[in-house]
Amino acid sequence: MTSPDRTAPPVAAGASPVQGLVDPIRRWWAGARVARDGLPWRATRDPWAVLVAETMLAQTQVARVAPRYREFVARFPTPASCAVAPVGEVVRAWVGLGYNRRALALHSAAETIVARHGGRVPAALADLLGLAGVGPYTARAVLAFAFDAEAAVVDTNVGRVLARAAAGRRLRPREAQALADGHVPPGSAREWNLALMDFGSVVCASRDPACGTCPVRAAGACAWRSGREGVPDPAVGSARVTARQAPFEGSDRQGRGRLVRAACAGPIPAADVARIAGWPSHAARARRVAETLVAEGILVAGAAGELSLA
Ligand code: ADE
Repeated sequence: MTSPDRTAPPVAAGASPVQGLVDPIRRWWAGARVARDGLPWRATRDPWAVLVAETMLAQTQVARVAPRYREFVARFPTPASCAVAPVGEVVRAWVGLGYNRRALALHSAAETIVARHGGRVPAALADLLGLAGVGPYTARAVLAFAFDAEAAVVDTNVGRVLARAAAGRRLRPREAQALADGHVPPGSAREWNLALMDFGSVVCASRDPACGTCPVRAAGACAWRSGREGVPDPAVGSARVTARQAPFEGSDRQGRGRLVRAACAGPIPAADVARIAGWPSHAARARRVAETLVAEGILVAGAAGELSLA
């Protein structure tokens, strides 16, 4: 008769597949003290600072966010200070992060926070989701990281861990969220979410996961790698939790970025728009992109057609 491996008990029948991950990952995180501990947004529980950081982090890499985050919260330390600033000032503070509609949304969110929530970032999911630019990821990140509320933060790293280790199959974003929701250790939401995120980034990495030293696998709790060998990676083809970014080079985004950056230094004469957008022989494209920036309220057109920051 084969006896079960006593050092690696299987997940109890009926228990959720996430349950088996919790202890190994929390223990790993407590011991690993990964470099990401030093990230500046982890040094605060201020909900506004967390909202700013997570809005930035949703589409921009950690290394690029860190300096801009520090400058942004120094310039706009509260929702009220952001709400009263001209939109152009907020856009200026966003330069270099890309996707500058997010700056506009954050400004609008700050106005709502002042108008409807007494200047304090709300602590209820529905209220957070009612803020411009705040989606399921950002709302839950604010709940977990600022308020230590029982919310499961599912970013791309977390989605990958859940698909591989918990489900052993591809997951739709909604399924990943539902799996994660049931397993936030009460009273430890912040710690658990950070641990899971870091585990996905450091151990259960997208390419070359460290399965050989993985504590979840060692505990027999990885649905992908604790069983048969040779099973294809379930994270490949799982619906992405955050949208994949289209190539930047040659994109409208690139031209938008050039125009906004130039407008930070002063008005752009109408005759220079195409050149500054980077498309000197595609005036119609430059005009279309510039008109979009005006329609969004990021730039304003003057009497002679010159473009300035709003
Ligand atoms: N710490 C808190 N939120 C984070 C994020 N979105 N990415 C990396 N580290 C984080």
